[in-house]
Amino acid sequence: MNSFNRLAAIISLASIFPLNVYAADSKGTVEVVHWWTSGGEAKAVDVLKKLIEKDGYTWQDSAVAGGGGAAAMTVLKTRAVSGNPPSAAQIKGPDLQEWGALGLLSNLDKVSTENKWDTLLSKTVSDTMKYDGHYVAVPVNIHRVNWLWINPEVFKKAGIDKAPTTLDELYAAGDKLKAAGFIPLAHGGQPWQDSTVFENLVLSVMGPQGYKKALIDLDESALTGPQMADVFTQLKKLQGYMDPDGTGQDWNLEAAKVINGKAGMQIMGDWAKSEWSAAGKKAGTDYECVPFPGTKGSFTYNIDSLAMFKLAKKNDTPGNIAAQNDVAKVALEPEFQYVFNQNKGSIPVRNDLDMSKFDSCGQASAKDFDEAGKTGGQLPSMAHNMATSLAVQGAIFDTVSNFMSDKSADPASAGKKLYSAIKSAQ
Ligand code: GAL
Repeated sequence: MNSFNRLAAIISLASIFPLNVYAADSKGTVEVVHWWTSGGEAKAVDVLKKLIEKDGYTWQDSAVAGGGGAAAMTVLKTRAVSGNPPSAAQIKGPDLQEWGALGLLSNLDKVSTENKWDTLLSKTVSDTMKYDGHYVAVPVNIHRVNWLWINPEVFKKAGIDKAPTTLDELYAAGDKLKAAGFIPLAHGGQPWQDSTVFENLVLSVMGPQGYKKALIDLDESALTGPQMADVFTQLKKLQGYMDPDGTGQDWNLEAAKVINGKAGMQIMGDWAKSEWSAAGKKAGTDYECVPFPGTKGSFTYNIDSLAMFKLAKKNDTPGNIAAQNDVAKVALEPEFQYVFNQNKGSIPVRNDLDMSKFDSCGQASAKDFDEAGKTGGQLPSMAHNMATSLAVQGAIFDTVSNFMSDKSADPASAGKKLYSAIKSAQ
């Protein structure tokens, strides 16, 4: 039984025992499960909280720390299993289909029609938010994953005069940073961070078509072929530049090492920018964002979205439903889209906003997203729940992190291991 069926079986039993955690109040409460707990991200989510409170509703914050959201997903499953789902939760990509199929999500037809979501969102986005043709989640942003973050001051001290655009230039910069006593690459050794680097290497080595074959179609020849062996060879090489103190570190603590000038670079999606912004640093001056070497022209996207749950019987009041709808409505309004995304590091998900209000990284991201859309370069991020089921993603995470922690692991056979792990998770 895969994890989805297991979850379905447990939920059908546990829904007999609904709990009530909601405070009784007149206008309604919305409880939101998310994992935006770094300094910059907490600041971003606070924008939504304030707007909901301004509308007279109570925001019950159920943040679960842990980058990439694995811990939050475990909490969410436990909550659903005990018949006590929150009103809203950060659920993304194909996972929305799995929750939708369980019959646990609310239909957002009314709020989406009244607010013309179909005309505000690109088809890539709106398709992801719908289950069985109906909206079940509201998208809040578009993150890009294939970025390299650079501290130019550190580069200067190490005698590096330009941002790397190829893997060889990346290694050359790494050598100079090492020689000058810096950590070349800030990296926290957590499975989702390892796989964020891995997917960037897949894109760099195999190109957008290869990425699609390997990580979206899960094609055997792409997963086990010579290019994949090269991806694992590059991963080993890159590992030699990673922070020696990075084991188990949170991504934001690693970002802080680049911000504070201890490290030169970080491979991370643009939520990393939230930490730079929160530290008062300016894009283009204090830090640089460049496409991960070898991936210019492609855009690995990660769309954050809030799914709305059917409320447990005792919480199912008109006020609480109104509060849910308010979150769905407010999340796509310009006021929220501007301020939230400026803080979060992402770009707005609606396509009619003025990007001159964003810094150079935000503007580059919006431009690159549009251009990649014309050339087939918009690719869903595997490491950020956009490309596969969570079960398949888990199999990839395990294989990649095991490979990285095994000093004698053989890049030539890693692809075969990856393929068989994926097969048994399907
Ligand atoms: C991603 C999420 C981002 C950011 C990141 C680090 O999966 O989409 O918004 O929170 O994890 O935790």
